[in-house]
Parts: sequence; C-alpha cells; structure tokens
Amino acid sequence: MENKLLRTLAGEPAAIPPIWMMRQAGRYLPEYRALRAKAGSFLDLCLTPDLAAEATLQPVRRFDLDAAILFADILLIPYALGQDLAFIESEGPRLSPIIGEEKIGAFRDRNVVERLAPVLETVRRTRAALSSDKALIGFAGAPWTVATYMLAGGPLKEPASLRGLWYDRRPFLSALIELLIDKTIDYLIAQIDAGADVVQLFDTWAGALPWPVLDAVSVGPMNKIALAVKSARPGTPVIFFPRGVGEKAGEYLAMGSCDGFGIDYAMDPAFARRELSARTVVQGGLDPLAVVAGGKTMTDAAAVYLKLFHDVPYIFNLGHGLVPETPPENVAALVEFVRSSTWR
Ligand code: CP3
Repeated sequence: MENKLLRTLAGEPAAIPPIWMMRQAGRYLPEYRALRAKAGSFLDLCLTPDLAAEATLQPVRRFDLDAAILFADILLIPYALGQDLAFIESEGPRLSPIIGEEKIGAFRDRNVVERLAPVLETVRRTRAALSSDKALIGFAGAPWTVATYMLAGGPLKEPASLRGLWYDRRPFLSALIELLIDKTIDYLIAQIDAGADVVQLFDTWAGALPWPVLDAVSVGPMNKIALAVKSARPGTPVIFFPRGVGEKAGEYLAMGSCDGFGIDYAMDPAFARRELSARTVVQGGLDPLAVVAGGKTMTDAAAVYLKLFHDVPYIFNLGHGLVPETPPENVAALVEFVRSSTWR
C-alpha cells in the first residue's frame, strides 16, 4: 500500500507521519475566498461539485498534504432532512429549529443520499483527480453535535446545556439521535461507494457531558455508526474526533470500532500516548492557534507531539480546525518542519 495515511491507519509505522489538517480548506486561503465569491453562498459552494472538488483539492495542491478532506459541512444532513439552512456572514449557520416528536416521522422518510447527490459527485470527481498516494477523507457530524444545531437552530454558547433533554424529554432526544444514526450510516456508506478512502466522525460538542449522557448520546451512537459502516464496507477505516472528552476518551475505544482517534488541543498528549496509542492510531493534537503564531512557537509545540508519538503509528494533525486568521505560509512551514524532522 503506497498510501501513507491508509498504511498508518492499518497500524504500520511510517518513517515520517502522514499529515493533513482539519479545516485545511477555507477562508485563510485566498484561492478559497475567490472560489467562495464565485459560488455566491457557502451552501452553493458545497452543492456545486466542480467548485467543491476544487476547494477540496486547493490545500493538497498548495501544501502537498497526505490527504484531502471532502469539502462539505456537517449541517448538510439536517439540510437533507428538510430543515432550512443558511450560513450567515460572520454569524455562522442558521437552521429552522425543530420543536417536537412530530417532525421526526417526516424526517425518517427523507432520503439523504438522494438529496446530497451533488456531494457524492464531488467525492467522485475529487477521487478521480487525486493521485493514489493521497487519501480522500469523507466525513459526517456525529449525532449529538448535529442534534445540538438542529435543536437550537444555530450555534449555542453552551451546547452541553441541551443535556437537560436527557432528563426531561428522553424519548424525544433518543428518537432524534436514532434518526441521525441511521441517516449518517446511509450517507457515509454512499461517500465510501463514491470513492472516500477513510471516514471521520466529528463530535465537536461531546465535551462537558456527564458520563451516562455521554455514553448515550456520543459514545454509543459513534460506535453504532462505525460498526454498521465497517460491516457494510469492510476495510474502510473510521476516525473518531470527539472534542473535549478528556479522560473519557478511552470509553470510545472499548468496542474496537474505530481505527483512528483525533485528540483535541486540550488533551494531555502524554495521557493520549499512554492510554490510547496501544488501542488505536492517535491523530492530531496541536493547537491551531500555535499555527497562527508560527515560527519557533509553532514548531516547538509541534515537536512535543512528534517526540511523544515517535515510536507508534501517528497521524500529524491539529487539535481542532485551522482558523481564518492563519497565515498560509505558517501552514507551509509546519508541513516542512514535520517532513524534515528526524522523527523515528
Ligand atoms: O477543510 C475541511 O475541513 C473540510 C470541510 C469542513 C467544513 N466544515 C467547511 C466549512 C468540515 C469537515 C466541517 C465540519 C464542521 N462544520 C464542524 C465539525 C468540526 C469543527 O470545526 O468543530 C462543525 C461544528 C461545522 C458547522 C459549521 N460550519 C459552523 C459552526 C460554521 C460557521 C463557523 C465558521 O467557521 O465559519 C460552518 C461554516 C464552514 N464550514 C466554513 C467552512 C470552510 C466557512 C464558510 C465560509 O464562510 O466560507
């Protein structure tokens, strides 16, 4: 296998770790801003295969990264289910909020794979344009994070406050999570069939939940999705990124359903090396704000991860997405630093 990311996810050590970055496509790149202006809205960009494939390829071309991540958004599932979706400049996403159980029945009948056909076309075009040494990563939001946006109609200051539903409207929350599990399985399998080599599940708002709630809304659903995807399409690696779960990270590995585990910037990397690396391939960790700073501050911070994970398979990445203020030359310098390190 000559694909470095796939080899690493299969547990083979590489001389230099594969590298890609969450939110590697986006506003920090001038070529992205030009593409976005041409598309009109962010949603139009996501749903126009030519342009979305180009946005997917831009960072790989500029920085020679080892993987491309599909240019799309986790909120395309609520969109495909029939919620109105708009991305408002400098405010973020807005969805028509769902209010009750009665909506879930209508959502059940929606075919997300059909409604998201343009995204699957983006996957096909991108895979065809990428060389075989580069992996194409498909993705979806994990049910809890997607549910927080569906319920609130936009980003919440404190998404964990929605855990109240677990106590007073449990059948409703469970029905919504179950619906999202099923739709996400369909969508990820369709991405794999269209050419995604790996899939990642983002649970951005998994942090700050007490154990029984976390188990019910995040650990359980992510495992269910991974097991279903892997039984339908054996051999496709699955990466989990539940942000902010700290010492509860190990719980996600109990079922052996994921091949890789993304750590966020707040997680102690020594804990991750000690507790997680024997059980999965760790990915990421570096604070994206260190990449805004650049220079020696950035490379010293990166070296911590390279040093700790030098004797196990490891994927170099960040502990959350690149932010719009990131100077692109810092990203180039980071890739150069990782590639020129004497890692092993
Ligand atoms: O390069 C890539 O990472 C691939 C594409 C990608 C986007 N969003 C593009 C995007 C991926 C993987 C995502 C995931 C996503 N989207 C998450 C999970 C990961 C994370 O960052 O925690 C979440 C929570 C979302 C929801 C979302 N999308 C929000 C809250 C926002 C507005 C805030 C912001 O950063 O602009 C978006 C918009 C969005 N998604 C943009 C991009 C490039 C910016 C859109 C623009 O104005 O051009």
